[in-house]
Amino acid sequence: MNVLLLGSGGREHAIAWKLAQSKKLGKLFIAPGNPGTSHCGQNVPIGVCDIDKLLEFAKENKVEFVVVGPEDPLDAGVVDVFEAAGIKAFGPSGKAAKLESDKAFAKHLMRASCVATAEGRIFDRYSEAKAYIASRDEAVVIKAAGLAKGKGVFVCDDPSDGIIAAEKIMVDKIFGPAGDVIVVEDKLIGEEASILAFVDGRNIYMMESSQDHKPIGDGDTGPNTGGMGAYSPAPVITDKLLDQITREIIVPTVDGMNRSDTPYKGVLYAGIMATAGGARVLEFNVRFGDPETQPILMRLKSDLLEVLLAVADGKLDEVNLKWDPRPAVCVVMSSGGYPGDYKKGFAISGLEDAQKLEDVMVFHAGTKEQNGEIVTDGGRVLGVTALGQTIQAAQKRAYEAVDMIKFEGAYCRRDIADKSLKRYK
Ligand code: AMP
Ligand code: GLY
Repeated sequence: MNVLLLGSGGREHAIAWKLAQSKKLGKLFIAPGNPGTSHCGQNVPIGVCDIDKLLEFAKENKVEFVVVGPEDPLDAGVVDVFEAAGIKAFGPSGKAAKLESDKAFAKHLMRASCVATAEGRIFDRYSEAKAYIASRDEAVVIKAAGLAKGKGVFVCDDPSDGIIAAEKIMVDKIFGPAGDVIVVEDKLIGEEASILAFVDGRNIYMMESSQDHKPIGDGDTGPNTGGMGAYSPAPVITDKLLDQITREIIVPTVDGMNRSDTPYKGVLYAGIMATAGGARVLEFNVRFGDPETQPILMRLKSDLLEVLLAVADGKLDEVNLKWDPRPAVCVVMSSGGYPGDYKKGFAISGLEDAQKLEDVMVFHAGTKEQNGEIVTDGGRVLGVTALGQTIQAAQKRAYEAVDMIKFEGAYCRRDIADKSLKRYK
């Protein structure tokens, strides 16, 4: 079976690497891909939202299955377009993708379906939002309802800062129309984790837990990024908590989507806060997480293509997933200056030696090939991922590989997975 994968990040390199191991795979195309994915299949220079061109390419190259990595094409309805053309696709419909792209839709759905989440109110008028926030004397979280490239959330310990955030979003329109509506939430206290589930409209399969590291600096300091590293499993997610997340978050969400006539298919990713009172949803994403996917897929022993097809066919109950019990840790190497301004085009050395280490995968993200050399080409450059007998061993091996890779200005956090080690003490 010929497969077309959309995306170009570390997540897509991990997906492409896993798909390439499938016995069912014919040709694998990745649009647009990166130098890492070019070792798993054929990169195709078409953008992820250039849907007409993607469809034309798929028809010409007998693509039977399309796997979508990022949220933008999902939100633009890429799955609907391929399915209407008779080509199977992995991911939710454009309408169902609102669970990520419209936080007001997500909040309404959670409320109607009694999903465990923070108390929240939705506003489309600044004057009303301001009056509500002013009436509060506790920390608030202000969220632009639309897609704001991961920057649309302000956690404000003082409500007066919340008013300023609401003004920036609704009046100054710093995120454009994504800020026409805001959600004002209570601040939750606890440890965050990522829970990804395969959902085929009806059946649910909970994947192994993971934890991202969003801030740029060690000890979770500094501005948020796309994610500086991740590990799986996340010990904060005990069996008991996972059971609560399944019952009080994932199942009612999938039911709610069915009831609201937007059945859900694909990966349902719940960003949760493990609070003293149990897990609560912070956000939903409608796709695999990046970088969570890198350690999760390192641990998946089953044929990923079979699983994704089962989701698209509504036959998730017919597959049984096997996982490597060993933990995996992914350390992101980024360009100096990220998430602010940074320079590109620096030669990367040591990639081959690092890749030779046992149970290590160096996933490419912001890289490109230039005159036969791999150079930096983005903020997050590589996701260096390792398996180990213990999380400590996986962490040690990941950093061993990181230390073999050099480029000018290279940066990484030095404490990825430390949070989990504290739990084992
Ligand atoms: P979101 O995009 O909604 O996940 O928000 C981005 C980040 O903001 C999350 O990863 C949390 O660190 C933080 N956040 C969002 N909502 C809340 C909340 N209700 N309480 C505390 N922190 C939050
Ligand atoms: N790791 C965060 C995300 O994928 O949105």
